[in-house]
Amino acid sequence: MYLKRLSLTDFRAFSRLDLDVPREIFLLVGENAQGKTSLLEAIYLLSTFTSLLTSTDRQLLNFSLPETGLQVGRVVGEFSRRDGMHRIEVRLIQEPNGSNGRTRFRKEVLLDGTRRKMSTAVGSLNAVIFLPQMARIIEDGPNERRRYLDMLISQVSPPYVQHLLDYGQTLTQRNALLKQLWERNGDVNQLDVWDGMLARHGAFIMRERIRAIREIEIEAKRIHFDLTLGSEVLRLDYQPAFEPLSSPADQMALPVTVVPDRSALSEAEIEAGYLDALKKLQREEIARGVTTIGPHRDEMRFLSNQIDLGNFGSRGQGRTALLSMKMAEVNWLHERTGDWPILLLDETLSELDTQRRADLLKTLSQCDQAILTSTDLSMFEPEFLKQHKVWRVAGGQVSQVGV
Ligand SMILES: Nc1ncnc2c1ncn2[C@@H]1O[C@H](COP(=O)(O)OP(=O)(O)OP(=O)(O)O)[C@@H](O)[C@H]1O
Ligand SMILES: [Mg+2]
Repeated sequence: MYLKRLSLTDFRAFSRLDLDVPREIFLLVGENAQGKTSLLEAIYLLSTFTSLLTSTDRQLLNFSLPETGLQVGRVVGEFSRRDGMHRIEVRLIQEPNGSNGRTRFRKEVLLDGTRRKMSTAVGSLNAVIFLPQMARIIEDGPNERRRYLDMLISQVSPPYVQHLLDYGQTLTQRNALLKQLWERNGDVNQLDVWDGMLARHGAFIMRERIRAIREIEIEAKRIHFDLTLGSEVLRLDYQPAFEPLSSPADQMALPVTVVPDRSALSEAEIEAGYLDALKKLQREEIARGVTTIGPHRDEMRFLSNQIDLGNFGSRGQGRTALLSMKMAEVNWLHERTGDWPILLLDETLSELDTQRRADLLKTLSQCDQAILTSTDLSMFEPEFLKQHKVWRVAGGQVSQVGV
């Protein structure tokens, strides 16, 4: 898969950019604050419709636009996939909301010219992105890891997105009812309808997470073992807030080296178990006014040689583990979709030692397209520069340069 053309309008610092994107591995160089990361972010936005760099999407819209009235930013990509050419567009819309001068913000997605629900258009274009800030995924709290996992699975499973949305809405309703039951009593059977929905959506989400984590772990483990010259065994430890294995007590008693295998569990089994657990916890959850189990509280830890990298890993170890994950994502997306994803690497190659760089380049060469950014061309071997095109980003424009 590759991007043929990228057009930006009022996306971050780019007022207007139209770019024919080469179908190859190429470098984007430029001084600081010229828009290299923003360009990768724009391409990634076409894949998942969210950014990993912002807390609110409003930040994606050019901030020099007036803060009042209708303002529309656009990211448009024409891309080639196994089934032909497509066009995907994300609109970032600020619009008046009421008469008091306030505005609200929303996004719209168009696939091949037609408005689509985000949950049905997600993953039309597949991309894997590596940003230096991503160390957060290992170091920060479980929210970061759930978000990462959700964005990854969304790319191969649009129904997953829908179930996530439905689960989130059900959870809000159920929590509101739990509080109400505690404050004003009432019929606890009112919970049944929400429990049923929560279990149905939750089971789908858990089943997909079990599958994805297992498949990616196989790839990531192999890659990580090579990257660390056989010295580290990487493990992705899924820790669901509701344990769907029937005898968790037995599982707990197992030594940590034994990995619980949930792969044989069907969606129906998970759903039944989850529903049952919700019922058992009913009194406690009413007292606490909050749903305590389910995918919204899941966790996934990164372990190397049984050591938790989030708590005890060095920075370098964390970075290598993430690199293994990214390369695993490339292979996994290819396996699940039949297309190689577009690879976006921000300031990555220059930080790596020769061995890791060689391994990464091997993965890069499988992709139809990979974009690497750097501030400094001297970081790259002359041989590499001879083989790959270099584009310069400066003042909101991009142009090819001879080296
Ligand atoms: N919403 C926005 N509107 C306008 N400008 C923005 C917006 N968001 C970020 N910028 C600006 O865009 C510029 C480019 O940022 P970007 O992070 O893409 O640069 P970069 O080339 O990756 O720099 P570095 O080498 O430091 O990583 C920055 O000066 C930033 O302040
Ligand atoms: Mg940058």
